[in-house]
Amino acid sequence: MKPANVLLVMFAVGAWLFGCQQPKSELVKTVSIPDNEIDPAVWGKAYPIEYEMWKKTEEPTAPGKSAYKKGFDADKITYDKLSEFPFLALLSNGWGMGVEYNEPRGHAFMIRDQLDIDPSRVKAGGVCLSCKTPYAPGLQKTKGADYYSKPYKEVLSLIPEKHRTLGVACSDCHDNKDMSIRISRDFTLTAALKDMGVDPDALSRQEKRSIACAQCHVTYVIPKDKDMRSVGLFFPWQGSTWGAITVENVIKKIRSDDAHREWKQNVTGFKLGFIRHPEFELFSNNSVHWKAGAACADCHMPYTKVGVNKASDHRVMSPLKNDMKACVQCHTESAEWLKGQVTAIQERTVAQLNRSGYATATVAKLFEMAHKAQADGKAMDKALYEQAKDYYEEAFYRMMYIGAENSVGFHNPTEALRNLGDATAFAGKAEGLLRQALAKAGVNVPIKVDLELKKYLDNRGEKKLMGNPALEIKDPSQLQARF
Ligand code: HEC
Ligand code: HEC
Ligand code: HEC
Ligand code: HEC
Repeated sequence: MKPANVLLVMFAVGAWLFGCQQPKSELVKTVSIPDNEIDPAVWGKAYPIEYEMWKKTEEPTAPGKSAYKKGFDADKITYDKLSEFPFLALLSNGWGMGVEYNEPRGHAFMIRDQLDIDPSRVKAGGVCLSCKTPYAPGLQKTKGADYYSKPYKEVLSLIPEKHRTLGVACSDCHDNKDMSIRISRDFTLTAALKDMGVDPDALSRQEKRSIACAQCHVTYVIPKDKDMRSVGLFFPWQGSTWGAITVENVIKKIRSDDAHREWKQNVTGFKLGFIRHPEFELFSNNSVHWKAGAACADCHMPYTKVGVNKASDHRVMSPLKNDMKACVQCHTESAEWLKGQVTAIQERTVAQLNRSGYATATVAKLFEMAHKAQADGKAMDKALYEQAKDYYEEAFYRMMYIGAENSVGFHNPTEALRNLGDATAFAGKAEGLLRQALAKAGVNVPIKVDLELKKYLDNRGEKKLMGNPALEIKDPSQLQARF
C-alpha cells in the first residue's frame, strides 16, 4: 500500500469509528418542534442553517459540471433519458416510462415534476406519492387500500393545500425530539429490512446516514390485482441479506408472481415487472465505499462551513456539481484526479449499458417478428421460444437495473459491469435461440435487425420532451449502428 493510501485508510477508518469527520455539531436547539409537525418552516425556526440549505434544492445546479447528470439551468430544463438512450424508448414503450423518463433534479421538485410530467406516469394512483410527500405515511395508514389504488390527483387533494407540492421534508428523515435519523416509511423500508432479518433499531449512526436515503432511492414493486389496480407497494429484498441485496434476488422476487407484472411491453406484448433507481441496493452490495464504511450522506451531504458553524449540506446533489467537496474530505488525491476517475467509470458503464441495451432491444424486435409470423399461421418451436423468453426477461431486468440506477456505475463499478455483462450474455443467448426458432418456421431474418428507434422516440405524444433540443437525435439508427 502506498503511503498516501495508508493515510487515506487510516483517515477513513478514523472517521468511521470515532466520527472525527462527522462531528455531531452543536445542536443549539432554541425552539421545540411539536410532535407530528410536518411544516419545514417550523423545523427551520430551530435549525435555520439546515433549513436554508434544504430550500436551495430548488435552485439550478451547475449544468456542465457533470457529464451524465446534467442538472438543469435557469430555464428549468431537465434531461430526457429516452433521447440519451433510445433503446429505452423502444423497451419501455407501453406505459408512462416510455412516454417521458427524465434525469432527476433537486428534491424540491419531486411533486412539481409529477404534476408536470405526462399523466401516464402517475397512472398507478396514490401509491405514486409514497416517495414524494411527507404526508404519504399518514395517508397510507388512514386510507389503507384506497391510498394505493385511488387516482393520483384524488389522493394528492387530501394533502393540505399549502403543502401539496412539498417534497421530502425534515420529518421524513428526522426525529423531532433529538434530530436523530428516523425511518418514516415504515410500510416499505422497515418491512423490507425485517424481511432480511435486519432490526432497524440496531442500525449504527453511519448506517442510518444511508438508510435515510434508502426510503426512496431503491427499486420497488407495485403489485396489481386482476384489473391492474395497484394493491400495495414493497421493496423486493426478500432472500437477500444486509450488504448483499443482489440483482439476482430482486429479479427472482419480481418474477415469482404475476401480480408483480405491472405493465405490458408493446413491442413484445409481454407483461413485465420494472426496475427503478436501485441506488441503495447497488451501493450497499459490497462496493468499495460501502466496505470502507462510507454512507450516502458522506458524498451527497458533506459537512460544510456556514459562517462559524458546520453543518451537513442539506442541498443534496451530485458531488460533481459540488466540485468534489465531499470526496476530498476523505481522499488525498486532487478533485481533478477524482473527477477523472468518476468519468472513466461512467464511460465504461455507458459503453456496456449501450451494448446490453441494444442487444436486448434487438431480441424484443425478433419477438415482434415471431409474433407476426405466428399470426400469419407459422408455428414456432415452443421449447426454443420459451427459453428465449426466459433469457430475454433476465437480460431486460439486468440492463434496466443499471440503466435506472442514478450513478451511472459509480456507486459500485465492478458490480455494474458484472450486471451489464450478464445482461448482454442473456440477450445474446435469447437472440440465438429466437433466430433458430424463426429459421425453423421459415422466416427470413436480416443480419441487422432494424429497431425503428425513431418511431419509438417520435410517437410519444405532445409532451415527449422536457429536455434540451440539442439532445434530440436526428437519426437514431446511427446510434444503433455503433453497437
Ligand atoms: C422521500 C423520498 C426521498 C428521500 C428520503 C431521499 N430522496 Fe433523493 N430524490 C428523491 C426524488 C423523488 C428525486 C427526484 C426529484 C425530481 O427529479 O423531481 C431525488 C433526487 C435526488 C438527487 C438528484 C438531485 C439533483 O440535483 O439532480 C440526489 C443526489 C439525491 N436525491 C440523493 C439523496 C440522498 C443522498 C438522500 C439521503 C440523504 C435522499 N436523496 C433522500 C426522493 C428522495
Ligand atoms: C463515495 C461517494 C458516494 C456515495 C457513498 C454515494 N454516492 Fe451517489 N453518487 C456519487 C457520484 C460520484 C455520483 C455521480 C454524479 C454525477 O454523475 O454527476 C452519484 C450519483 C447519485 C445520484 C444521481 C445524482 C444526480 O445528480 O442525478 C443519486 C440520486 C445518488 N447518487 C444517490 C445516492 C444514494 C441514495 C446513496 C446511498 C445509498 C449514494 N448515492 C451513495 C457518489 C456517491
Ligand atoms: C433526506 C433526509 C433528510 C432531510 C429531508 C433532512 N435532513 Fe437533516 N440530516 C440528514 C442527515 C443524513 C444528517 C446527518 C445525520 C448524522 O450524521 O447523524 C442530517 C443532519 C441534520 C442536523 C444535525 C446537524 C448537521 O447539519 O449535521 C440538523 C440540525 C438537521 N439535519 C436539520 C434538518 C432540517 C431542519 C431539515 C428540514 C428543513 C432537514 N434536516 C431535512 C438528513 C436529512
Ligand atoms: C468517507 C470517506 C470517503 C469519501 C467521502 C469518498 N471516498 Fe473514495 N474511497 C474511500 C476509501 C476508504 C476507499 C478505498 C481505498 C483503498 O482501499 O485504497 C476509496 C476508494 C475510492 C476509489 C477507488 C475505487 C475502487 O473501486 O477501487 C475511487 C475512484 C474513489 N474512492 C473516488 C471517490 C470519489 C469520486 C468520491 C466523491 C464522490 C469519494 N471517493 C468519496 C473513502 C472515501
